[in-house]
Order: sequence, then structure tokens, then C-alpha cells
Amino acid sequence: MSEPIAQASAAGKAILFGEHAVVYGRPAIAVPVSQVRAVATITPAPLGSGCILEMPDVGGQAAPTDDPTGHPLAYVAWLALSVLDALPPPDWRITLRSTIPVASGLGSGAAAATAIVRAVAQALGRSLPPAQVSALVYESEKRFHGTPSGVDNTVIAFEQPVWFVRGQPPQPFVIGRPFTLVIADTGVASPTRITVGDVRRGWEADPPRYEALFDAIGGIVHAARRAIEAGDVAALGPLMDENQRLLQALDVSSPELERLCAAARSAGALGAKLSGGGRGGNMIALVTPDGAADVTAALEAAGARSTLITAVGV
Ligand code: MEV
Repeated sequence: MSEPIAQASAAGKAILFGEHAVVYGRPAIAVPVSQVRAVATITPAPLGSGCILEMPDVGGQAAPTDDPTGHPLAYVAWLALSVLDALPPPDWRITLRSTIPVASGLGSGAAAATAIVRAVAQALGRSLPPAQVSALVYESEKRFHGTPSGVDNTVIAFEQPVWFVRGQPPQPFVIGRPFTLVIADTGVASPTRITVGDVRRGWEADPPRYEALFDAIGGIVHAARRAIEAGDVAALGPLMDENQRLLQALDVSSPELERLCAAARSAGALGAKLSGGGRGGNMIALVTPDGAADVTAALEAAGARSTLITAVGV
């Protein structure tokens, strides 16, 4: 195999507060999760063979395409080549590997797209600012998700904690005191497109009920920002629990998520909630650094497929 001409990666993400309501203009707080990553490697391909994107983890391949209905990652590769004036596509093999489980709420699609855009720019000796990477990745997110708010591509392209409101540039904010999360996977794949579509149907059927739930979530996100900035970690736990109760009311929780949240709380977590689209995927538990091991053990005993511990704000 030839030497790589470029290699770039992108972190996963977790939404701390505000998923779903963020699609309807309320704020959300999201953080990168650097323990899981997507990595794109570009190697030269034989002269005249064109460009191919290989995804061995999901068992697929596709050529970069300008067709928006094609594979979202092949489309984002084309968009990156296009903004960098590198069309027709060079003779490249782009190999995508990822440790981010698909359809799990950790931003696997946005991270894969970000790694590809970064690697394409690097191979051409160029660099793209995070806002431009984010805008390109948003185009592939629309193919993955239908009506994404843009929070996933933003937190992953900027790779820092963000306060996000749809249609606005992300605001960095101060983390007064670092805090620790345990992230646990239910093992149930749940595409965000489905839950986002179901919430939309609910909102269309009963706007006042859904707007009231989104407002309540928005209030929690504002309170969480104040607590994070003030370093008041203890206040965050109850806010997470309340956000989870509202997500349940939106019908995006699941028995597996509820079981893991309950197990985490019983083992001493300060609060717990699903993270991302819901109905499966990952949940997050806020823990004290000393309590992380007990909560991890309880989550595994309650059936978590995998767990990881991550510190925010260090
Ligand atoms: C998915 O990570 C977060 C959702 O709010 C969808 C979105 O914001 O696009 C569920």
C-alpha cells in the first residue's frame, strides 16, 4: 500500500443539553468527545483510476459525486474538492475508519464528513477554517438527517464546547470548573432521522404542546450554561434529570435508556440523560471523578454495550 499523502481525524460529540428543541430554535450545549474518532487517510491511486472513498467499517465504497442524493460522504468529498478547485477528482483512494458507533448519538456521520473534508484540504496543501468545514459538513448532515439543526457539524468542526443556536455562529463559553461524564451505549442503533421526523410529526399535530416542551428545555439549557460558567457542577445533575424527563415527554427515550439512566443515578451519578437523537444510542451520566468507576460498573451491569469516561473543560 502506498504512503499516505494526507491523514486527518475528527472527534465524536455529546449533546449535554437541548437536543431536539435545538431543531426549533432553542439553544443547545454540546462538547467534543475525543476518545472516539473518525480518521480519513488519502493514498495515491493508479494514474487515471479516479477517486474512490472506501469505508471498510461499514463495508461500502463510493466515488465522490455532485449528486446530492448520492452517498452523503461521497457528496461531501465532492463539495470539498469543488471549493478547493480540485475537480475533476484526483487519482486518490480515501479510506475512512471510525471508532464512533453508527446511529448512536455520538455524531458518527458528522465526524466522518469532517475527517474527509480535513484530509482533502490537507492533501491539497490547503487549510479550511472550522466555520467553512462546518458549512460543508452541514450539507452531508442534511442528507443523513433531513432537517438537522447544525449542532453536530458545528461542535465537531470547531472541536470545542459550544453554545449553539440554529443559524447563528457558535459561541464559545467559559467552563468554570471541569466536570466528568460517563458515556454509555445502549447498543441499540437509532438513526437520528427517525426521531427527528417523529418529533416533527408530533409538533405538526399539536404545536402548543411541543412548543411548551421546547421552551421548558430551552430554560434548562440557559440554567445549565449559568451553572457551567459558575463552576456549579452540583446544579447540573438535576438539570440533566429534568432535561431527560422532557425528552421522555417528547417520546424519544426508550426502556434501555431509562434503565441505564436509573442505574447510573442509583450508583451515585449526579444526573443522567440520553444524548443525541434518542430511542437508543448513548446516554450520559454526570459523575464526580471519584464516582466514575462505580457508575461505569453499574452501567455495564445494567447492559451497556460500551462505556467511556470523558472530562469536559480540562
Ligand atoms: C442530534 O445529535 C441532535 C438533534 O437535536 C438533531 C439536530 O439537532 O439536528 C436530535
